[in-house]
Amino acid sequence: MAEKEVVETSEAQIAVHWAEEEYFHPSKEFIAQANMTDPDVIDRFSLDNFPNCFKEYADILDWYEYWHTTLDTSDAPCWKWFVGGKINACYNCVDRHLPKYKNKTAIHFVPEPLEEGYQHITYQELYVRVNEFAAVLKDVCGLKAGDRVTLHMPMIPELPITMLACARLGVIHSQVFGGFSGRACADRIVDSGSNVLITADAYYRSGTLIDHKQNADIAVDLAAKDGQKVDKVLIWQRYPGKYSAETPMVDGRDYFANDLVKDKYGARVEPERMPAEAPLFLMYTSGTTGKPKGCQHSTGGFLAYTAGTSKYVQDIHPEDVYWCMADIGWITGHSYIVYGPLALAASTVIFEGVPTYPDAGRAWRIAQDLDVNIFHTAPTAIRALRKIGPDEPKKYNYSFKHMTTVGEPIEPAVWRWYYDEVGKGKAAIVDTWWQTETGGFLCSTLPGLNPMKPGSAGPGVPGIHPIIYDDAGEILPQGAGKAGNICIQNPWPGAFQTIWGDRDRYVETYYARYCKDPKSKDWRDWPYLTGDAAVEAPDGYFRILGRIDDVINVSGHRLGTKEIESASLVVEEVAEAAVVPVNHEIKGKVPDLYIALKPGIAATEALEQKINDAVCEQIGKIAKPRKVWIVTDMPKTRSGKIMRRVLGAISNKLDVGDVMTLANPEIVEEIKKMNDESGI
Ligand code: PRX
Repeated sequence: MAEKEVVETSEAQIAVHWAEEEYFHPSKEFIAQANMTDPDVIDRFSLDNFPNCFKEYADILDWYEYWHTTLDTSDAPCWKWFVGGKINACYNCVDRHLPKYKNKTAIHFVPEPLEEGYQHITYQELYVRVNEFAAVLKDVCGLKAGDRVTLHMPMIPELPITMLACARLGVIHSQVFGGFSGRACADRIVDSGSNVLITADAYYRSGTLIDHKQNADIAVDLAAKDGQKVDKVLIWQRYPGKYSAETPMVDGRDYFANDLVKDKYGARVEPERMPAEAPLFLMYTSGTTGKPKGCQHSTGGFLAYTAGTSKYVQDIHPEDVYWCMADIGWITGHSYIVYGPLALAASTVIFEGVPTYPDAGRAWRIAQDLDVNIFHTAPTAIRALRKIGPDEPKKYNYSFKHMTTVGEPIEPAVWRWYYDEVGKGKAAIVDTWWQTETGGFLCSTLPGLNPMKPGSAGPGVPGIHPIIYDDAGEILPQGAGKAGNICIQNPWPGAFQTIWGDRDRYVETYYARYCKDPKSKDWRDWPYLTGDAAVEAPDGYFRILGRIDDVINVSGHRLGTKEIESASLVVEEVAEAAVVPVNHEIKGKVPDLYIALKPGIAATEALEQKINDAVCEQIGKIAKPRKVWIVTDMPKTRSGKIMRRVLGAISNKLDVGDVMTLANPEIVEEIKKMNDESGI
């Protein structure tokens, strides 16, 4: 099985070698103010009380109409939550806070250039700007509930403003990570059937003002070739009134969003009363095949789940200044920069740049200046900050009560630095394990109730009941300490509803493997396959080991190995491609790309570069291989299957094991030699 070979190569390895760690207990000071300190919550959210327990989360929100059915399973495994309920996500994140909090900051925007200072957008200002832009979307673009619109925006305040304006109208937004290429954006435009693209002219990254508008031109052209016409491109200017990109505006297609908004001065748009199960947004993610999957998230269920978990796991109160240092272009940003914190009336920080620019103290200065008290980031950023500025945090006078880590397993040594240095030994940490598909957290400690354990995510969060299966379909006994495939036994409101336009793939990928009866309408027959391997310790804490499928986690970002391989195959000289994950000190993993050329073609550095460029062009720079290895042949089984396990071992300088059963064992030595001689 191909999947098994990839697991063996690496994903699980780092984590498996960690020993079980000692507990750390949150401080009394933290617990004294925690949102959730009632141990009965575990009982209230037990399977016996499922699904009605989730009413507790839905009740955090304001509904136009209450639902009549908490969970409708009639179209299993496409679950419908809070059926009959009517709600608007924008209203819940903005309008309803005005009476109490209109003068409070909703968004602190931190531009990357130091000289630009901070921007503080109050809930009142957010209300005005969202309304005016919603009027543009409605009147100028003709968008209405159920339409899809693609966003390809960087980390500027106009991104959440655009998302909320869409949500106000019931328009389904599909934000593509700003660092993705025009090609990647085009694929998502086509798949979602968007005829409006919203983007920005430029943004800062590590001191450079990057021309982003050129990606829009590429995306629109490529989408047209694939049969999806984009009628309008709305461009937010990084500096309103000044165009910061080189590429010309296209007459009749391109409009400056900030100009259009001027004509809507004072406009107010009534929020659409959306059915709870209407889609709120699509978020594309990588899977086992080349084509990214559009995860479709609901309005009522998603918002209830992100609000509930933001309140109890992240411990967000309205008076908190909360900084999630992720990009809104990923699910973390949707759930825990925009929707969750704003639903709770918190002040959320949006940072344009990279945390290590211009120096290793930048992040901690921002925390000090804005008095951030909840901090949220990924192990890759923690590793980078620890490496280049291990003593920086103590130079700054900020005080975190709570910190989150997300996206990949965190090494216990890195966890300890996060705890001791960044959290100054007093902030509670939650290691939150979840996925694009799941909308919100699956496993984490509840900081007011559970001790922390470095390297372990923790138990299932309230209402999430994980279970580990082995490959033969047997359930591993609780606390067995053995690795297996972690699944979730029950549906939950934050779970995605389907893959946009591809229900079969949704069922096949996530539910078919351990389904007890494909005709069943009972949720108990449909465990959700997360695609991760995990072990459960006797205390019920889960340690996540990594993916069981062909997905690589680079800096906490998900990339499909097949996706990178297909990108390299567009180069006509390439015959075969194989991607394997390589351990990396900062990024967790990086892809190594092995290439076999068509007969008669010589390996050259120029060709390596061309293949490298093709990957960056097709997907984006985050997919850039550590190295393109042009090999004379791939190690293959006698049936002709590429042995990625062997390539992975070579790239990671590990033992390749027994290769004598291969069709061409001699190639292994040759590739190993090439690897040794390269000096990397
Ligand atoms: O392998 C798990 C890893 O990231 C995958 C999900 O990636 P993505 O959909 O991009 O979402 C990332 C942010 C939620 C998972 O299948 N992962 C995520 N969080 C953790 C993790 N691995 C270990 N520990 C975590 N806390």
